[in-house]
Amino acid sequence: MSEKSKYVGVLGCGTMGVGIAIVSARAGFNTIVIDTQQSALDQAAAFADKFFAKSVKKGKMSAQQKDEIMGEKLTWSMNYDALDKCSFVIEAVFEDLEVKQKVFSQANESCPKETIFATNTSTLSITSIAAGSGRPEQVIGMHFCLPAQVMKLVEVTRGLQTSDDTFNRTVEFGETLGQVLVNTKERPGFILNHFIVAFNNDCIRAYENGLASVEDIDKAVKHGLGYPMGPFELLDYIGMDTQLRVSLALFNQIHDHSFYPPPLVKRMVDAGFLGRKTGRGFYKYGESGMFGT
Ligand SMILES: NC(=O)c1ccc[n+]([C@@H]2O[C@H](COP(=O)([O-])OP(=O)(O)OC[C@H]3O[C@@H](n4cnc5c(N)ncnc54)[C@H](O)[C@@H]3O)[C@@H](O)[C@H]2O)c1
Repeated sequence: MSEKSKYVGVLGCGTMGVGIAIVSARAGFNTIVIDTQQSALDQAAAFADKFFAKSVKKGKMSAQQKDEIMGEKLTWSMNYDALDKCSFVIEAVFEDLEVKQKVFSQANESCPKETIFATNTSTLSITSIAAGSGRPEQVIGMHFCLPAQVMKLVEVTRGLQTSDDTFNRTVEFGETLGQVLVNTKERPGFILNHFIVAFNNDCIRAYENGLASVEDIDKAVKHGLGYPMGPFELLDYIGMDTQLRVSLALFNQIHDHSFYPPPLVKRMVDAGFLGRKTGRGFYKYGESGMFGT
């Protein structure tokens, strides 16, 4: 791999962006993380430091490797000009078409002409995002799963104008990151959200209808279906605000009622019970006990 292709940009360092930045830096790429909020950059840097400290403790990397990643490989900036050496830019900003078009248009000004722009969108059209980029043939979907630093799957999706060269370089890049890639058509929800959003909404409806407690539905799904996490544990990671947004986005495109968010989702958002990020969702964090059972 050439020196130039060793730089990766990550736009947005919220829940997904920080995980993607960890994956990139861990795979040896110089990773430039851009966000519009200094507080988001500070939080992400602290999260990455804690994550790599745990990796050292578990014997997955040496303390020296961690110091090299945190001291040299990962850099944090609010300035898009810092992307000037990147061969790949992955955006993980808000799920909003205008915002995504804007960040790619800004990156287009700062990046070399061969740079590929990958979007982590869950529900938007790759073709529509590409329309604002100034280089639509070099825009592609790379949908990482939550938490990106742990989950291996990446769904790779071509827009209408994505070139073969972009697709091939993306597959090579994704494999270098150590991820497992699947190829999906440009359809709302791709593969994973098509199943999981409807499934999670079904579980919430079952709980609302009094079928069983949050804890018992989680137990049943884990021990009966072999899922690593129960739906409510997963929802607390995803965030109820995200569940609401993604459910509505899919329902408005697919018009299938299984995607429609049950009333409890909106009530929990209104109450600020978003999940782990607010300390309370279906479960409480920092203390034991469950909400609503
Ligand atoms: N949360 C999930 O479960 C999940 C899973 C897979 C994919 N996704 C997708 O990943 C993307 C990000 O989701 P998230 O949950 O990490 O969001 P988030 O709200 O946690 O983070 C978004 C970050 O983007 C930053 N940002 C906003 N505008 C920006 C700009 N112009 N330039 C740079 N940074 C900017 C924000 O400050 C924030 O830190 C979305 O497209 C979402 O659909 C989310």
